[in-house]
Order: sequence, then structure tokens, then C-alpha cells
Amino acid sequence: MQSGIFGAAAIRATGDPLPAETLTMAKAAGAVLMGAVGHPDFDTVAPEKRPEKGLLRVRKELAVFANIRPAYCYKALETMSPLRQEVVSGTDLIIVRELTGGIYYGTPRGVDRSGPEPIGTNTMVYSRSEIERIARWGFKLAQGRRKLLTSVDKANVLDTSQLWREVVTELGAKEFPDVKLEHQLVDSCAMLIITKPTHFDVVVTENLFGDILSDEAAVLTGSIGMLPSASLGERTGLYEPVHGSAPDIAGKGIANPYGTILSSAMMLRHSFGLEKEAAAVEAAVSKALNSGVRTRDLKGEATTTQVGAAVVAAL
Ligand code: IPM
Ligand code: MG
Repeated sequence: MQSGIFGAAAIRATGDPLPAETLTMAKAAGAVLMGAVGHPDFDTVAPEKRPEKGLLRVRKELAVFANIRPAYCYKALETMSPLRQEVVSGTDLIIVRELTGGIYYGTPRGVDRSGPEPIGTNTMVYSRSEIERIARWGFKLAQGRRKLLTSVDKANVLDTSQLWREVVTELGAKEFPDVKLEHQLVDSCAMLIITKPTHFDVVVTENLFGDILSDEAAVLTGSIGMLPSASLGERTGLYEPVHGSAPDIAGKGIANPYGTILSSAMMLRHSFGLEKEAAAVEAAVSKALNSGVRTRDLKGEATTTQVGAAVVAAL
């Protein structure tokens, strides 16, 4: 195992959120486990110098186009959800978010200040092959689960969404006839995620919609601190908790480590093919939660280290 600096720490040390040394290390690795990124000190600096830029660059450099974000509601945490227990109970969905395309990276982009008033532009762009490869991930995951794939777009307004819907439909008919495919518009999907979260199995969507819907789904499960994610492409996988860097509790030793622990379980599964070991880590997390080992965000008093120790003991 090797570690490298990234984000705010890297900006402080080198001026660059993703130093070349860290990137080289990441590219050579079998898998990368990453901490949360972001710091209020950099909220007002130029976009190029922000920690988030390092995140967008590492995703692009590792070509991890498939972002897998499960939202699973643990029995022990059902009462922590902002939703009523009977609504959230049984929620087990995965959002498959396209991660290296769409409006995040599309050009032209920028703010043109040369005219009478500044004009900001971003471009949402998707090619057939980009849509196909992310949809394939969605179908494959659904095949191993309840066999329901919800494809989310805004086809009533956006041209990219019309292409998205066409490509996903074709792929489903051709390669995945055993998976039930449904299409939802992103606005009504956002409603359904809070009114009937148990409806969903696997949701596949483009980058920006996935960013928004995955935060919405995350919060249903009790605490965003619980949720892991995997970003996958052809080679090196990138694993990170869904939560942010929580600067308000930095250095206090009370951050919820479950999201990171569960990210390492995803790493065992997706990068190393160690399904049994991944399931063992997940079971140990369940056990620790059931025995009441909870950090402050879960209305408990355990420290980060105590959670780690409880999971190891359960393993
Ligand atoms: C996420 C985050 C990032 C994103 C930010 C920090 C750039 O919100 O991973 O969901 O928008 O992708
Ligand atoms: Mg986000």
C-alpha cells in the first residue's frame, strides 16, 4: 500500500490539488481508496485551484466513467431517516452515475465577459458510445439483483436525453431482454425517490442528474456518512465515501468511518474479485451497527477509532 496527498492538503504542500506524483501512483495502482475532498479555505479561489478540480481530474485521468453509489438502509438505522420508517424500510437501490462526460466536462464552457454583459456557458454532450458503456453497467448490475433498471433523463426537453433514451432502449432490447427497463424524467424521479424509495433497484443516469439524485438517495438512509462509492472504468478503480470532508469536525476524531470502510468492501469486490471478503466486511458493519456502535451523526457517541475497532472485532 502507498499513499499520496490530494485535495486541500496537496494544494497547501504543492499548489496543485492533484500533484503529478500522486497521479502517477494512482495510475500504477490496482485500486485507489480516496478521502473526502473540499475545504472552506478554498471556496473563493479560482476554480482551477480548488480541491474539487483535483477530483474531476483524477476521475478523467483514470477514465472511471461508471460511478456506483448504493443507498442501502440498514435495519438499525431505519429510524434515523428523515422519512417515516414504513416508507424507507427495505430501501436498497444503486445509482449508476456517468462520471467522465456530460455538462461537467463538455465544451464550449466558460464565462464570456467581452460583451455588454457576462454570459456563462456549459455544454451537455454525450456520444452513443458513452451512453452505451454506462448503460451496460446499469443493466449488468440489475441482472445480478431485482432486474429492474430505471434510466433517468430529461427527454421532454433535452436533445442529449433523447439520444440517451434511444440508446438505452436499444441496448436493453439487444443485450439484456431479461432486465425490465423503465424510463423516468429526472424531476419526477426526484419525487419518487422520496415518496417510494423501495421501488428502485438500479438507476442509471448522466453525470449532473446522478450527482443530484445520489445526494438525495444518500440522505434517506439515515446519514450520508454511511455511504460508499466506486468509480470504475477499464482499469484502476477509485473508491471514496459519498460524504464531504466535514471541516466542522476536522481533527476531533469523531467522523463516521463506515462510508470509507464500506468503500473498501466495494474495492475488494470490484477491483480484486474478492466477493466473500467484501460481503464479510459488509456483514461486520451491520453487526457493529446492530450493537449500537455509532458516531455522532448517527446519534451515538463512538469515536472514529472505536467504530474501526468494532468492525475489526466483528470481522
Ligand atoms: C460528488 C461531488 C463532486 C461532484 C464535487 C465535489 C466536484 O459532489 O462526488 O458527488 O460534483 O461530482
Ligand atoms: Mg455530489
